[in-house]
Amino acid sequence: MKRSVKVIGIGAGNPEYVTVQAINAMNRVSVFFIPNKGAEKAALLRLRYEICERYIEGSNYRFVDFDVPERSKAGAYKADVEAWRGEVQKIYENLLAEHLNEDEVGAFLVWGDPTLYDGTLSILDRIEFGGGFDLEVDVIPGISSVQALAACHRVALNRIGESLTIMTGRQLAKGYPDGGGNIVVMLDSLGAFRELDGDVDIHWGAYVGTEDEILVAGKLREVCDQIDRLRAVSKDEHGWIMDTYMLSGNCRDGDT
Ligand SMILES: C[S@@+](CC[C@H](N)C(=O)[O-])C[C@H]1O[C@@H](n2cnc3c(N)ncnc32)[C@H](O)[C@@H]1O
Repeated sequence: MKRSVKVIGIGAGNPEYVTVQAINAMNRVSVFFIPNKGAEKAALLRLRYEICERYIEGSNYRFVDFDVPERSKAGAYKADVEAWRGEVQKIYENLLAEHLNEDEVGAFLVWGDPTLYDGTLSILDRIEFGGGFDLEVDVIPGISSVQALAACHRVALNRIGESLTIMTGRQLAKGYPDGGGNIVVMLDSLGAFRELDGDVDIHWGAYVGTEDEILVAGKLREVCDQIDRLRAVSKDEHGWIMDTYMLSGNCRDGDT
């Protein structure tokens, strides 16, 4: 039996980041699969419910919550992620089999954009091409934390004719990339920026787009300690933090 699933990007924090395309898609959904995960779950759950209430006409839809297992950190990073995706795949398969009827549309509301550092598409691919399910998957792009960060700081992501690299804190900890151009760092729980030296500008943002948003910009060596303190204090206060930053050389030569 064919099942229809939408993967809808809801933007990275502000309910107004939700696009018209996402709103139209949400209005065709019967079942929203809502993940429970980690310390940030209450805040992120609230935002997902708020978005549905705000943008869906009527109440002809339902929520199915599911727990997301913790990823093991015992082995090599990629192997741990693969194993975790395998576990989540089984959870998705059960959700689809038990909670989505043939004539209905199911949806996953993905934080930011579903194509950036998010496993939902790859897990649905495994299900679609694994042969067990006949799935039709639709993807609706969302405003990622990268775009939101740049907009809040009113800066362009790239400098004239240069590249933009998006990487994780784990990768930055292995060394600053030599390719040139700006870099955006995500998923940096350990604060890899602290180890950098040189004449680097940073545009940092936590909880970007939400009412708790914090922004700091300046020379890395001048604002590094401030960012470090803010990260620690906010994490204590909220129990979780999501932050992203852009690093660039000191030559700021305008737009495009
Ligand atoms: C698993 S990734 C998901 C990225 C998401 N798909 C996107 O498009 O932004 C989570 C990381 O995104 C970044 N992030 C997501 N939302 C954020 C926000 N509102 N403010 C700052 N960083 C955010 C953080 O680096 C966080 O560790």
